[in-house]
Amino acid sequence: MLGAIILRPIHSLIHRMNSIQEKGSLQTIDEERRRRDELQQLIDGFNAMIERLRVQFEKQDQFVSDASHELRTPLTIIDGYASMLKRWGKTKPDMLDEAIEAITSESTRMKQLAEQLLLLVKDEEHLTVNKADINVVTVVQHSVLAMEVATERDVRFTSSDELLIANADEQMLQQLTYILLDNAFKYSEDHVDVRVVKAEKNVELTVTDYGNGITPSEQTKIFDRFYRIEKSRSRAGGGSGLGLAIASKLVSLHNGTIGVDSIPREQTTFTVTLPMKG
Ligand SMILES: Nc1ncnc2c1ncn2[C@@H]1O[C@H](COP(=O)(O)OP(=O)(O)OP(=O)(O)O)[C@@H](O)[C@H]1O
Ligand SMILES: [Mg+2]
Repeated sequence: MLGAIILRPIHSLIHRMNSIQEKGSLQTIDEERRRRDELQQLIDGFNAMIERLRVQFEKQDQFVSDASHELRTPLTIIDGYASMLKRWGKTKPDMLDEAIEAITSESTRMKQLAEQLLLLVKDEEHLTVNKADINVVTVVQHSVLAMEVATERDVRFTSSDELLIANADEQMLQQLTYILLDNAFKYSEDHVDVRVVKAEKNVELTVTDYGNGITPSEQTKIFDRFYRIEKSRSRAGGGSGLGLAIASKLVSLHNGTIGVDSIPREQTTFTVTLPMKG
């Protein structure tokens, strides 16, 4: 009798585990009465784990659906122009240029998107990170110069030292700088300040713009994959909301941190810290 009482919840636990195994459905164990023993702790632990798995699965589903949506848009355009070419390509040569231009630029966009998605989903051990001791000051300065020339925007670069060494992948550091500058250009119109400074045992890279800013509640979400503030309005800017998610990944590959500080309608600063060498 006593054995049966003790064993019932254990059986129920085993039953749930088997059913998850067989059907793949994530169910918690809901007992009518809460117990006051170790078994209840076991059930609580089990339920908490199932809850976390559910959240993870939901995120994964969302990621897959967002990713396919993003990839479908350029495909639709390519498909449309390809059909147009098929029908009128031979008789209306003036539309050839337009169609080829659209198909080329949309394929490039798709390729970039696919590369970004791969970078996001790959485990750290499957990514090639070429770390070397590099001078963060010159790498960032060169990236800034290249972006300044390409966009004709006013970027002001300063650094606390001439030499700040970190063990980092140079291309990834460039990419990180591009992502933050790209946002500063897109979401503000004034000049942009970029600084590289020594902060205790870290090298700190900050990018400050003087645009609309980001409210505290949005600040916690912008690093999520595909998240964009006021989706429909800023959609015209053309991004997919992956920039900051990639930036976070690049930073974590270097054991660094990334954060944002913003005073809405005044200024926004993104700060990256990387452990300094020596
Ligand atoms: N400097 C900034 N000022 C104001 N809002 C910003 C700034 N940087 C990012 N955001 C907001 O955070 C969102 C997410 O940024 P993120 O770089 O991840 O994506 P994106 O710029 O929309 O697209 P992508 O970078 O993939 O081209 C942006 O859509 C924008 O709403
Ligand atoms: Mg961006």
